[in-house]
Amino acid sequence: MPSTTVNGRHLLKNYPSGYPIPGTTTIYDTSERLDLDTVPLNGGVLAKLVVLSIDPYLRNTIKGNAPGSVQLGQPLTGFGIVKVIRSEVPAHSTGDYLSVNGLYHQEYSIFTKDQLSSAELLKADNRLPLSVHLGAAGPTGLTAFAGWKEFAKVKKGDTVFVSTAAGAVGSLVVQLAKLESLKVIGSAGSDEKVKFLKELGVDVAFNYKTTDLRDVLKKEGPIDLYWDNVGGDTLDAALENASTGARVIICGSISSYNHAATSAGVKNLLHLTSKEINLYGLSYFALAPKYDAEFKKTVIPKLADGTFKYLEDRKFGLDQAPQAMLDVQNGGNTGKSVIILSDD
Ligand SMILES: NC(=O)c1ccc[n+]([C@@H]2O[C@H](COP(=O)([O-])OP(=O)(O)OC[C@H]3O[C@@H](n4cnc5c(N)ncnc54)[C@H](OP(=O)(O)O)[C@@H]3O)[C@@H](O)[C@H]2O)c1
Repeated sequence: MPSTTVNGRHLLKNYPSGYPIPGTTTIYDTSERLDLDTVPLNGGVLAKLVVLSIDPYLRNTIKGNAPGSVQLGQPLTGFGIVKVIRSEVPAHSTGDYLSVNGLYHQEYSIFTKDQLSSAELLKADNRLPLSVHLGAAGPTGLTAFAGWKEFAKVKKGDTVFVSTAAGAVGSLVVQLAKLESLKVIGSAGSDEKVKFLKELGVDVAFNYKTTDLRDVLKKEGPIDLYWDNVGGDTLDAALENASTGARVIICGSISSYNHAATSAGVKNLLHLTSKEINLYGLSYFALAPKYDAEFKKTVIPKLADGTFKYLEDRKFGLDQAPQAMLDVQNGGNTGKSVIILSDD
């Protein structure tokens, strides 16, 4: 008599009109079962989800009729680390850990040989928790490092402004800037996050919910480099307070992800011409191949020996994914949001 195992899944139930609502927008579903010993692999591998990354961009994958949107009733997709349980692929053995982009948010998955082309055999630094290889030592950290290397073009004496500075990407950006002894201004959405920024050596750390952003930038600027995680009015304020020849790295626009219809557009593009400001659009996927090896060689050892600090927002069990989705959108997370499913 075959025994079956529940394959828990994080499914899209309703398209959100604002913030995702746990249990309404996405749900944890236990209706699917599979026999781990006999399920056909068709030349692929069966793997168990070990750590799941909850990233802000996931909100942009559940936008109704938008091209590429997740369909109702389907699992979300994203970054995760899986452990191989059975394999028909010579390159992958039982027990291997794979870092995968584009995996389904479900506890067990079968990957075809083709799907494994976006999976990397994880050579984890065992001084770091496995989960950090999805965050500071993984795609999130590489986003910060690659964007910095490609676009920052800083010089001695520059002033750098980073929004969402205590977040997963932002906290590494501020540390890269401090490594070059630059003046760093960092904004965050809670006093606890501001405290973390001070621990990282941020020169001017402030809570943008209780302190006027323009007052700070006017007093502490002009800004030579702005790392934008937010968009909207924050980007406007940075352009108003930018120096001549400033660079702006557009990494994310989270202020608009949940309020597309009402998000404040950028009004100050005229500053681009009068101040000769350059705007750079950062894409992890475009830059990762170029900087991956250097990142692994230079950044991961600094995370492992404590030179670079990071925070993780850990939740346990895939049933926590709907809440984690909301938290990264409204600032409820402190550090890289990860779901830990299993430590084996
Ligand atoms: N371009 C790329 O390839 C790429 C790759 C990775 C990430 N990103 C982008 O980088 C940004 C940071 O991502 P992350 O993974 O490091 O996430 P994160 O910062 O760890 O979490 C998201 C944070 O965004 C902040 N936030 C939410 N709504 C906001 C609003 N209306 N105004 C200002 N801040 C708001 C919150 O922090 P506070 O409490 O401080 O407000 C929240 O904790 C996101 O925009 C993301 O989309 C881009």
